[in-house]
Amino acid sequence: MIDDIIVKTENLHKIYAQDTPMEVHALNGIDIEIKRGEMVGIMGPSGCGKTTLLNLLGGIDQPTSGKIYIENQDISLLTDIDMTNFRLRNIGYIFQLFNLFEFLSALENTVLPLLLTETTRLEAEEEAKMMLRQMGLGDKIYHLPNELSGGEQQRVAVSRALLMSPAIILGDEPTGDLDQDTSTEIMNLFVSINENYKQTFLVVTHSEYIASFCHRIIRIVDGEIVDYGDGRK
Ligand SMILES: Nc1ncnc2c1ncn2[C@@H]1O[C@H](COP(=O)(O)OP(=O)(O)OP(=O)(O)O)[C@@H](O)[C@H]1O
Ligand SMILES: [Mg+2]
Repeated sequence: MIDDIIVKTENLHKIYAQDTPMEVHALNGIDIEIKRGEMVGIMGPSGCGKTTLLNLLGGIDQPTSGKIYIENQDISLLTDIDMTNFRLRNIGYIFQLFNLFEFLSALENTVLPLLLTETTRLEAEEEAKMMLRQMGLGDKIYHLPNELSGGEQQRVAVSRALLMSPAIILGDEPTGDLDQDTSTEIMNLFVSINENYKQTFLVVTHSEYIASFCHRIIRIVDGEIVDYGDGRK
């Protein structure tokens, strides 16, 4: 059923600095289909195009050619403001370096996306507190990032990404800066969120161990998929 596919790309190409001496072909015809509720690992050597792909899927950057459908919406047809709203409601981002604001508390960092919606500040803070409690950070909500461990900071970033209940979570090496135990904790968190809420995860990682938490692993080399992880090559 077509509705079952939440992310689809068709012949996606990305060329940076096109027609200059610095031209880079970062993606060379990527065709992917991700089913709703799938948890997919994305692996490949440094420079193969993983971050580029995630940025295109998240609408942060535009492809040189090719199509991207998220929830059956061709995202190239959205205006900037519509894309911003679409992203806010449908996509959660988690980065390697947590991307927290250093002068804002765990609560303030978490509540940010909700403040961009019609939700009142009071309601938004209640929801953010609930989320942080679920993440085991109930006693840390007023801590600044530098008063939290790496794993705790990443759980704040996860809380922020999940607060809008996005259907899709994009993680760019979300455990890249964490030790093995904390990485395992974060991946177990993703697995339980994925099982409980059927949110779709795309997780870029350099670690086979981290990827082993996913349902399948897409492997990219030189901007091309060499393994879809579902039997197709
Ligand atoms: N803004 C940019 N301008 C020019 N070239 C870029 C830009 N961003 C990325 N590239 C190039 O595009 C290619 C793919 O980069 P990308 O960041 O997607 O790789 P990656 O797979 O995420 O690598 P890593 O595992 O090191 O994070 C690389 O050759 C990189 O140098
Ligand atoms: Mg990268």
